Amino acid sequence: MATEQLQDAAAVRAGRERYVTRGVSTTDMTVSRAEGATIWDSDGREYLDFAGGIACQNLGHNPDAVVQAIHEQVDRYLHQCFMVGMYEPYVEVCRRLDELWPGHTETKSLLVNSGAEAVENAIKIARAATGRPGVVVFDRAFHGRTNLTMAMTSKLVYKQGFGPLAPDIYRAPAPYPYRGVTTSDAIAGLELLFAQDVDPKEVACVMLETVQGEGGFIPMPADFVQGLKQICKRHGILYVADEVQSGCGRTGMPWAIEHLNVEPDLIVSGKTLGGGLPLAAVTGRSDLMDAVHPGGLGGTFSGNPVSCAAACVVLDALTEPGFRERAETVGRLIRGRLERIAEEQRAIGESTGWTSSSSRSRQPDVLARHDYGEAAALMPRRN
Ligand SMILES: Cc1ncc(COP(=O)(O)O)c(C=O)c1O
Repeated sequence: MATEQLQDAAAVRAGRERYVTRGVSTTDMTVSRAEGATIWDSDGREYLDFAGGIACQNLGHNPDAVVQAIHEQVDRYLHQCFMVGMYEPYVEVCRRLDELWPGHTETKSLLVNSGAEAVENAIKIARAATGRPGVVVFDRAFHGRTNLTMAMTSKLVYKQGFGPLAPDIYRAPAPYPYRGVTTSDAIAGLELLFAQDVDPKEVACVMLETVQGEGGFIPMPADFVQGLKQICKRHGILYVADEVQSGCGRTGMPWAIEHLNVEPDLIVSGKTLGGGLPLAAVTGRSDLMDAVHPGGLGGTFSGNPVSCAAACVVLDALTEPGFRERAETVGRLIRGRLERIAEEQRAIGESTGWTSSSSRSRQPDVLARHDYGEAAALMPRRN
């Protein structure tokens, strides 16, 4: 494709209208270049990127080491299919995921192409390991757009007109202190679900985003996550942390759940994992991961070698000295400014972030503030 075509924003917009389904919602921006935290559009404007391709660029755009690893792997081989011929980058990603596991348990991993695919596979593994069908998800959850995951996702736009939805998915309240839903309320809601709708003995797993993403960037309170883990333990239910968005250094630590001292049974990761290339993973206790029969998991492109080469660099970066400190410094800086804006603007109810104890809030005077699509997180926007 000629470079001048890439630079012609009007042609891209016209082509998008003509050839791309409206089912994919987009902003008006056409990207021509990205580096670090900056994006340039084809109209010459420069943006500070708060979206990172929706949480896929926690190391910034085009980090040198990631780009170099990709180039080197491209020259070696592009695709093998791990099920046909094993290769080191796949195993190395799984080894690094084991090293980063937030606990002392020995783990194994499965690599796939997208967050939704990883979520689906986590459910398969949980069902195989427990012999139970039920899955409990929470208010405001986002777990993906495939058939199973859209049933798990809590937003109409992602499932309207796409039924029938997958069965055996049950929804419980999630705490949201700003809207008056406390940890006790949420736990009581779960107990009610178990009393009225589904026998906990029939539940394979709960799945919770440690920081809800699409739901409004709501960090789950420590006492809720800890209480949920206790309830799971009592009923033999697996705790699956969906860290597709909150993981891979998004909160400074490799996994957001590490801040809460809870060891999940399975972690689902994705987005930043592939450093900008498609890659996602399910990691968990070896006995659970091995509960599935040989051949029950996999996929043609799953754990593609180029994505894996990038992921090895990404996972190494998460534990490099200074990574967490830098994330915390940037977090404090942004948080301080957001709080100042929130104080000045009555339409803003609260600024949320990882350190929920310091989150500032006042009573909501605007409802449904989080009614935006994924892509709309990019600021500033054209009208
Ligand atoms: C928490 C969470 N889980 C799952 C997904 C689905 O990931 P993907 O879009 O890669 O399928 C997302 C995507 O935004 C997500 O935020």
